[in-house]
Amino acid sequence: NGHHDLIVVANRLPVDRKVAADGTTSWVPSPGGLVTALEPVMQRNAGAWVGWSGSAGEAPEPFEARGIRLIPVMLDEREVEEFYEGMANSTLWPLYHDVVARPQFHRSWWESYEQVNQRFADRAAAEAAPNALVWVQDYQLQLVPQMLRRLRPDLRIGFFNHIPFPPYELFAQLPWRRRVLEGLLGADQLGFQRPADANNFLRACRRNGLSTRRGMVQLPGEPRFGSPDHHPRREVNAAAFPISIDARAVQELAERPEIQMRAKEIRRELGDPRVVLLGVDRLDYTKGILHRLKAVEELFEDGDLEAQDAVLVQVATPSRERVDQYQKMRQDVEVTVGRINGDYGKIGHPAVHYLHQAYGRDELAALYLAADVLLVTALRDGMNLVAKEYVATRYDEGGALVLSEFAGAANELPQAFLINPHDIDGMKAQIMRAVHVTPKEAQRRMRAMRRRVFDHDVARWASTFLKVAASAVEPNAVAS
Ligand code: G6P
Repeated sequence: NGHHDLIVVANRLPVDRKVAADGTTSWVPSPGGLVTALEPVMQRNAGAWVGWSGSAGEAPEPFEARGIRLIPVMLDEREVEEFYEGMANSTLWPLYHDVVARPQFHRSWWESYEQVNQRFADRAAAEAAPNALVWVQDYQLQLVPQMLRRLRPDLRIGFFNHIPFPPYELFAQLPWRRRVLEGLLGADQLGFQRPADANNFLRACRRNGLSTRRGMVQLPGEPRFGSPDHHPRREVNAAAFPISIDARAVQELAERPEIQMRAKEIRRELGDPRVVLLGVDRLDYTKGILHRLKAVEELFEDGDLEAQDAVLVQVATPSRERVDQYQKMRQDVEVTVGRINGDYGKIGHPAVHYLHQAYGRDELAALYLAADVLLVTALRDGMNLVAKEYVATRYDEGGALVLSEFAGAANELPQAFLINPHDIDGMKAQIMRAVHVTPKEAQRRMRAMRRRVFDHDVARWASTFLKVAASAVEPNAVAS
């Protein structure tokens, strides 16, 4: 047994290892919403974090960073291809996001997925103190709860799915659907972003012969060694815990004078347009970037937006660059941006500022402050923390949010200008309403959204989840 009472197990560590050309390594914050969400909680609880360093080959020794014990797990080159790029990001990711891209099913990828999940489980089992709480994260590690329970029946195990859980009609395509359900049901507490995701999961359980009652899945239990007459029953709870951000930290950053100066400077650099539209996404086909570009292109074409007067800044953070569908997507986006700029740009004044770069927190905060309208047009998104970050940044109660109904955040932010990204005319109309909104109306909406985000911040998300997971009855204590 190890000595950590709280362990997070996630595919990624909160930092990525970067190896420079001269062989020196450095650590930089890793991409995605997960890190932003969990870091504060881990720092407070002096926990350990088991995860992958983001590059193939030998894992570095465990080390301390940003107040957290980091325990790197190794993936070799083939596992990066089969587990990470394959099963996680070419099978599960598109399948769980409503099949907006076609999922691929390969048996060798599944084997790699099992193997890597086992490695994460072994490592967590070795680091956990007796009766520790282990919190497993996301779709890359759905088998870990069951594997961990077999190794360490004393642990309490939580699992949180950061992405959607699909309707059974789609989940049923997965050749290993039963194994995934069994893997997840190794946990005491399962968390999902929206009630609809938890319900999709419960329905999948029922379709596989399990009974559920009030969000609890009833497991018949396994015969206990040495007592053949005893079948301890177990119940697994599945519920919604919408993830959030450290809203106060985001606002404090935005209030810093240098960030505000940078925001003004950005508007100047853009040529002082009347309207700044902003998109901030990982370059991912789930984000609806092409749909958004189409809408903006048509608004230029129709003359509703004047290219002298209005610009779109699109930050597209590089992501999963070796996966085919991402390469294809990047090409489509870049061709489209090129076409829009060719048609509507002027010398020194492109209509779309496309930035295929990872921006730091400071520059993002300045961009959020500089933007009149943030466009979140995801075709499907577990939550979308960019929407919440924008809201938290706008301490001035200015700015407008255009938000897809298909992002989990829409459940919590109904005061946004909600859109269906497949309905291009509807999206155009909502973008124009957001552009022309009166300051008073904008303020009313932003206030309501800020109340929600500050009230339901990441600390509350984590403590609510950890509280229910920690109060799970001791394993095997529920006799039948
Ligand atoms: C989403 C997922 C995370 C993932 C992140 C970045 O937010 O829910 O689990 O870490 O995307 O993707 P990447 O493949 O770079 O880890």
